[in-house]
Amino acid sequence: MLDPYEVRKDFPTLARRVHGRPLVYLDNAATSQKPKQVLDAIMEFYTMHNANVHRGAHTLANEATELYESAHDEVAKFIGARDYREVVFTRNTTESLGLIAYAWGLQNLNPGDELILTLMDHHSNILPWLQVCKVTGAKPRFVKVSGEGMLDYSGLEKLLSERTRLVAVVHVSNVLGVVNDVRRIARLAHKHDAIMVVDGAQSVPHIPVDVKELECDFLAFSGHKMLGPTGIGVLYAKLDVAESLAPHEAGGGTIRSVSFSPQAGVEVEWSELPWRLEPGTPNLAGAVGLAEAVRYLKRIGMSEVESHEKKLLEHGLKRLGELDGVEVYGPRSLEARTGIIPFNLSGLSPHEVALILDEYGIAVRSGYHCAQPLHEQLGLKGTVRASFYLYNTIEEVDMLADAITEVLGEVR
Ligand SMILES: Cc1ncc(COP(=O)(O)O)c(C=O)c1O
Repeated sequence: MLDPYEVRKDFPTLARRVHGRPLVYLDNAATSQKPKQVLDAIMEFYTMHNANVHRGAHTLANEATELYESAHDEVAKFIGARDYREVVFTRNTTESLGLIAYAWGLQNLNPGDELILTLMDHHSNILPWLQVCKVTGAKPRFVKVSGEGMLDYSGLEKLLSERTRLVAVVHVSNVLGVVNDVRRIARLAHKHDAIMVVDGAQSVPHIPVDVKELECDFLAFSGHKMLGPTGIGVLYAKLDVAESLAPHEAGGGTIRSVSFSPQAGVEVEWSELPWRLEPGTPNLAGAVGLAEAVRYLKRIGMSEVESHEKKLLEHGLKRLGELDGVEVYGPRSLEARTGIIPFNLSGLSPHEVALILDEYGIAVRSGYHCAQPLHEQLGLKGTVRASFYLYNTIEEVDMLADAITEVLGEVR
């Protein structure tokens, strides 16, 4: 069973003190802390193997290429992809979603086409689609969210039609922690020959994810939210769909050959997948760090991570639910939720709460969390968000609840 006290020993940041108190890091939905195994792997790459990839014949170039390519393999296995060709490295989830929008969207959408998006989604899975709609003349349609924070599945079904070309849905809400039934939506989308895009930024780090089980065409996620470094993200692109994509950013690395003749002009032959979708020199050390993060999570086991977070969630909801003056949001049932608790304290703005909790050494996030339409649907002007990960403890959840109890006592 996952022992968070053992796990914590791997994370140097968690030994820090903030304002004279032990750091209680509950801002994991924003970014996770990094274990020393990941930090060491990055250091080792730069000290021993640093060279560019796919270009050189020398030893270091071969070592770097081998590490970079095997990082794709590691990630492919982690998410159940068929092989490395379905794994494109990007900078983050935002760039991965943008890549689908600009590569697939611009090539495939026309006036009269419709995209189905949800009001639960992060801005990163809404804004690129709106931009592509502006250029192509396609129309976005939005699925609503219930007061409890559940996706309106029957509303979604009603929006689907022969005009639907794409459905884009967040797997786990970064505000509510709600786990959406992606497979059910993918099946509906595919019945209408639409492409299924999944934002996995908050699912891949926290629950077992298998792209074949989800039946999605694209899945986007970020390395930095799953123990890896910043600046490396992933786009899973199902092979048959990915093969149809020409790069929307072209240049070094994306081509097999570029030739010029006065008769034909410039002729380009794109590289094979996934390299043709990774323009320029990639984030090599980031890829190495991400592969190490994946190995770390695999050793612990994603089901263990999921059930550990569920315990923290259950305890947190119970403790906060007992306090007068705390409003907690999201479905009552824990069944389809991950370790995220959004809440507000009466008489204080979310930002004030986050500042006060910081005095206790507790790191939480406040505001709209890049999901303003969701907050508007729920009639909220922002929330405080406590988000857990594998290294958080029940004791830390108690520290949060105790600090809130004290704060409420002072406000009254
Ligand atoms: C659900 C969701 N989607 C997308 C993103 C964007 O991730 P990134 O900033 O790593 O691109 C986030 C980040 O918070 C998120 O939670």
